[in-house]
Amino acid sequence: SQSHHSESDEYCTRKTPEELRSWRWYGRDELRSFGHRSRAKQSGWGAEDYVGKPVIGILNTWSEQNSCHMHLKLTADAVRRGILQAGGHPMEIPVLSAGEMLTKPTAMFHRNLLAMEAEEVLRGNPLDGAVLLGGCDKSTPGLLMGAFSMDIPVIYMPCGPMIKGNWRGETLGSGSDVWKYWDEKRAGNLSWEQWCEIEDGIARSPGHCMTMGTASTMTALAETLGLVIPGASSVPAVDAAHVRLAAVAGRQIVENAWNDLRPSKIVTERSFENAIAVDMALGGSTNAIVHLVAMAGRLGIKLPLEKFDEISRRIPLLANMRPAGKYLMDEFFVAGGLRALLNGMRELLHTEELTITGKTLGENVEGCEIYQPDVIRTPADPIQPDGGTAILRGNLCPDGAVIKHAAATPELCQHTGPALVFDSYPDMKAQIDNMDLDVTKDTVLILRNAGPVGAPGMPEWGQLPIPKKLIMQGIRDMVRLSDCRMSGTSYGACALHIAPESAVGGPLALVKNGDLIELDVPNRKLHLHVSDEELAKRKAEWKPAAPRYHRGYAKLFVDHVTQANEGADFDFLQHHPEGVPEPEIY
Ligand code: FES
Ligand code: MG
Repeated sequence: SQSHHSESDEYCTRKTPEELRSWRWYGRDELRSFGHRSRAKQSGWGAEDYVGKPVIGILNTWSEQNSCHMHLKLTADAVRRGILQAGGHPMEIPVLSAGEMLTKPTAMFHRNLLAMEAEEVLRGNPLDGAVLLGGCDKSTPGLLMGAFSMDIPVIYMPCGPMIKGNWRGETLGSGSDVWKYWDEKRAGNLSWEQWCEIEDGIARSPGHCMTMGTASTMTALAETLGLVIPGASSVPAVDAAHVRLAAVAGRQIVENAWNDLRPSKIVTERSFENAIAVDMALGGSTNAIVHLVAMAGRLGIKLPLEKFDEISRRIPLLANMRPAGKYLMDEFFVAGGLRALLNGMRELLHTEELTITGKTLGENVEGCEIYQPDVIRTPADPIQPDGGTAILRGNLCPDGAVIKHAAATPELCQHTGPALVFDSYPDMKAQIDNMDLDVTKDTVLILRNAGPVGAPGMPEWGQLPIPKKLIMQGIRDMVRLSDCRMSGTSYGACALHIAPESAVGGPLALVKNGDLIELDVPNRKLHLHVSDEELAKRKAEWKPAAPRYHRGYAKLFVDHVTQANEGADFDFLQHHPEGVPEPEIY
């Protein structure tokens, strides 16, 4: 029997075995069910393994393509143990990994592919619930976007951060210190031998980047949304607690499958307001904005960019984490982790939001203490009174732009300077180290054709390198503008996600070298000092580039990807009131 759900379902209506989704595959006296059962036997599973039990998928993004996830086979074993303990039947299924480092042109290009795969794997198989294993940047939004669209019970199990990096007694942070020492190397301050030592010391264990980059941000936000076993997002990958909590996730998902505790019952507009607030309190990655908008879109929840700005203005920065602050995830965990941060800021959160524990967010973090107040602050003693991410508007970005001014040089946050435009990343790379480049520290560097359609996939190119000529003069920050993203581990006065992007004819496409550009973060303004008449004239002369993709996933991508302010999801994957029907089983 196909169970049908309505908004009024209580989460505690417990299913009977015949009401489980998997019953449609295994339970009926039909030709197809014979096939499903005989092939269960082929897998080594007899009736006693699965009859009358929820079948729980373990969607595993383990892959040798993704160094952050190297330990997820062991994590999956622990999840399996928990599922068995609770009387469920585990079924591990590998899915696309999209490791941040190796995937080209950018793992962001594959986020939507993973989301489609996760949704269809959940829909097309006899699963009553699933534990999703991920953590490296795009795996968190990718898996969750798919799970939200399918809407069966899921728990997200983050892979955990790697341990701190080390070089000659100095702590190294993922990403941030790569950018920092690369600039030193370009300035001639670092030898090849020293550079190789940094390569040895910056990624010392499995786990995702341990700065407050996109991975640490997104796993913390998944926990804030109520989808993670409380505390699990802060636990280092190699800490034994990671394995124990994976087993807890296995036990909990069996319970949630019986109770039909689906994402749509947990994740509401108020959950997203919590996630945005926590993003600001963490000094989280700018990428979180694009991902949260896309995730909310899967549930039919609209998150206009202004909501991020409004929340950023009233939420203090509480986590003293690199790149905006001082510490790394190891220290965050020891200081009490996300639960301590949430408990400390509970008056700023909707604590009554339901979570995968069956309890509220407030109940989950009740009594969780901050042990090291320099690492995790409270609203009474914040690092800074606001969240440090701003949404900009102006004639250069009618649909918005994003800047993380907490990680920018303060004097550059109000700056007017002449534009120097690069039409593509290769164009920039070919010129940036040219000692004759017509550039000063006041120049505004612009990269275009780097957005969702233009690149494609909106890569993390937004922290444009400082021209070599200026690096040699000791310059380390400049105003930079682009329609792409930047790594959550990056820093600098970089306005990002300019929408609409240049490749579709946004105003960024119309800028010429020498045009004056004004960045004014306190007034949330990004303005091109060129008259409307002149811009209209330039627009009339503008022509889109000839299409580069005539087939394949890239063709699907550029034809259907939405702009940054809409989450860069595919238009046909947005929430639809009719959903997608359950597969027929004939
Ligand atoms: Fe995997 Fe940074 S490379 S999280
Ligand atoms: Mg990243």
